[in-house]
Amino acid sequence: MTNVSTSKPWTPDSWQQKKTLQQPTYRDPAALNQAVTALAKLPPLVVSWEVDALRDQLAAAGRGEAFILQGGDCAESLDACSSDRIVSQLKILLQMSLVLTHGLKRPVVRVGRIAGQYAKPRSADTETRDGVTLPCYRGDIVNSAPFDAQSREPDPSLLLRGYERAALTLNFVRSLVDGGFTDLHHPEYWDLDFMRHSPRYEEYRKITDSLADSLTFFEHATGRAMSDTQRIDFYASHEGLLLHYEQAQTRFIQRRGAWYNLSTHLPWIGERTRGLDDGHIEYFRGIANPVAVKVGPTTDAGYLRELCLALNPDNIPGRLSLIHRLGAKQVEEKLPGLIDGIRACGASVVWICDPMHGNTESTKTGVKTRRFDNILAEIEASFRIHAEQGSVLGGVHLEMTGDNVTECTGGARGLSDEDLARAYLSTVDPRLNYEQALEVAMRISRWQNRR
Ligand code: PEP
Ligand code: CO
Repeated sequence: MTNVSTSKPWTPDSWQQKKTLQQPTYRDPAALNQAVTALAKLPPLVVSWEVDALRDQLAAAGRGEAFILQGGDCAESLDACSSDRIVSQLKILLQMSLVLTHGLKRPVVRVGRIAGQYAKPRSADTETRDGVTLPCYRGDIVNSAPFDAQSREPDPSLLLRGYERAALTLNFVRSLVDGGFTDLHHPEYWDLDFMRHSPRYEEYRKITDSLADSLTFFEHATGRAMSDTQRIDFYASHEGLLLHYEQAQTRFIQRRGAWYNLSTHLPWIGERTRGLDDGHIEYFRGIANPVAVKVGPTTDAGYLRELCLALNPDNIPGRLSLIHRLGAKQVEEKLPGLIDGIRACGASVVWICDPMHGNTESTKTGVKTRRFDNILAEIEASFRIHAEQGSVLGGVHLEMTGDNVTECTGGARGLSDEDLARAYLSTVDPRLNYEQALEVAMRISRWQNRR
């Protein structure tokens, strides 16, 4: 049975009895109620068997038999729900997964930060400019970014707008995945226009050519077409931050005897909202989805033990992923203790490395950025430390885009602080651009080949 044991009573709204951080203050409770009720009647965005399939794949990643590639924007905006953005996000994830499969010799499971990544945690509830104080911007599903009273007022009808954009996004992704777009025989479909000018293009091409050769060999040897045997999976994930949204899309599936959050396959709890007695843990403990929790440098083994008991009391493989985001400076010091703590309590977890959020810094002129070398260093150290400890790094979690942005410094083109001004499009955290993202995949493949 996939349900988590709920010895304590649980309902999709029982989190409302708990202290819940990072929620907007809606001025009109009746309007909020109306939006949540309307959302609860709409069809789900994903189905329980997909959710269960992902949990099995996560379990395989935990054993080192598969690898999770989770990536996408820090925050999606409702306006950017466009064909171009979705296609380029899918392309870069497909390209990276191909490179990783080649290097790691394991199936790669693609999980987008997509179709629901609309709510953001913030460091303060309000923002003051020139003596005017307004609610902070919490993501497009809550309010709007411009600094005026109307834009910043949390609007419950945006819950429905977010659901609709998520549905449009997933609909297009599913059509692309089911159609010829993800055909392994034609990786050239995934080329991005500007990619041919990339310093990494030749290397990428060599990998896809050798993959095409292996495919042809397999088909000749077995007399079977690969497309009959291999379907590319693609899953959606987002931070399950705004609990009214998550609650409204939580459905009881009779056949499984369990509650599922059917707004996404893999919801996660962020670093700022993982308090053991708080609303987010309360909500997440009752759903049957695989779930993830971000863990930063203040985490200790005692907390992890309690977390596993709260979210995975039956120790179901694939149910709980821990996404460590420790930063290149602290990963060496902190990660071994976390791995030890999990081993000591015998908990089954899938370890994933987020090399982005522990490596955020500001340039002299106050621009938020991340250095490519620090991102690589944290991933490399994480692979090494897990291996040294007899543990498995089951995946990576990246903020990236298929577009040609300049938000992180470094990489093959050596982007400098000055280059950031050229194409800095993120309204929140800086993302790897397509070239940097592909380079991450190539570096991982090379290290693993060498091992
Ligand atoms: C994020 O993933 O965008 C985020 C806010 O991360 P974290 O919770 O790890 O800080
Ligand atoms: Co972010």
